[in-house]
Amino acid sequence: MELRIGVVGLGAIGRDHVQRLSRRITGCKVAAVAEVNEKVGREIAGQYDAKFYADGEELINSPEVQAVMVTTWDPAHAQYVMASIKANKPVFCEKPLATEVEACEEIIRAEQELGRRVVQVGFMRRYDPGYQELKKTIREGKIGQPMIVHACHRNMSHAATMTSEMSIKNSGVHEIDVLRWLLEDEYVSGQVVLPRQSRISAKEGLQDPQIMMLRTQKGICIDVEISQSSGYGYDIQCEVVGDLGTARLPDPPSVATKTNCSHTTAIMPDWQNRFIEAYNIELQDWVDHARNGLEPAGASAWDGYIACLTAHVLGQCRAEGGMAKEIKLPQRPGFYC
Ligand code: NAI
Repeated sequence: MELRIGVVGLGAIGRDHVQRLSRRITGCKVAAVAEVNEKVGREIAGQYDAKFYADGEELINSPEVQAVMVTTWDPAHAQYVMASIKANKPVFCEKPLATEVEACEEIIRAEQELGRRVVQVGFMRRYDPGYQELKKTIREGKIGQPMIVHACHRNMSHAATMTSEMSIKNSGVHEIDVLRWLLEDEYVSGQVVLPRQSRISAKEGLQDPQIMMLRTQKGICIDVEISQSSGYGYDIQCEVVGDLGTARLPDPPSVATKTNCSHTTAIMPDWQNRFIEAYNIELQDWVDHARNGLEPAGASAWDGYIACLTAHVLGQCRAEGGMAKEIKLPQRPGFYC
């Protein structure tokens, strides 16, 4: 039996995921879509033979939808995740789980009251073969005890709506999640350091780049550069320094060309292609679990909460002038172990 999925939000990644679920992922069908832009919504519904809903909650509560995917803009995530929990349906929510810590707390309370985990957050880097290999290398002790991480997240360019806060809560949140997963560790403090402003991304309300500094329980120090306007491509880097050696996230394979006394390799322009394999593996895994009545295996609502809480503390830190702040994480409930 195919899992009948309802997708709420048909922007860039919503459309990508609808296509992926329809053409690539097995065992599922996009049965319904919802979008505030009715013209776009009806067009996509027609293309994929899905039912169109103007209202996301109506889609979630419809009997023809067995599982929900939330790909709206960030502020609408929490509302649809809550509606899916109330409807007792598995829900895949693109990151971030919510924009506010209180909304994440409400979600984890509601999920625990429901008594089973139904929420997966779209932190797809956990499924990326490069990050998987890096984690395996660390686990096998090949570089000894990790001490330092140097990471960077560079977007080619940013939307007109980008702000300093979003730079951490929307882009930086990927790094916050994947590094605690990679190191199997939790953050204890953080701070944001602001270098000289880029002239390319100069815009009222946007400090770019920013450097997030984090310290973990085991004492690992992490620096992550977040840049919204590299101008040259979408570039994700991660180097872990251990006491026996270092390990680096591989760049995606690219043919090296030598011409005219130059040696070049291409750099991907965006997240769509850079993490295409991760998205494919992630969604197949989510569908397989939901279809078989299993709890999701990817990032949980708890992980979404911790990422949001950490991003919130870092945001406060930047607003207050950049001094390091303690990150007080609550005890993880047994439900999420
Ligand atoms: P987008 O702005 O292209 O699309 C958002 C869509 O949601 C728009 O079509 C908008 O009309 C629709 N929408 C907004 N509120 C809605 C509501 N209440 N009900 C129904 N539709 C609604 O944004 P994009 O790039 O597609 O991002 C969507 C989400 O996915 C964001 O939360 C973003 O953080 C996340 N994302 C995750 C990525 C990843 O690597 N995992 C990559 C890109 C985006």
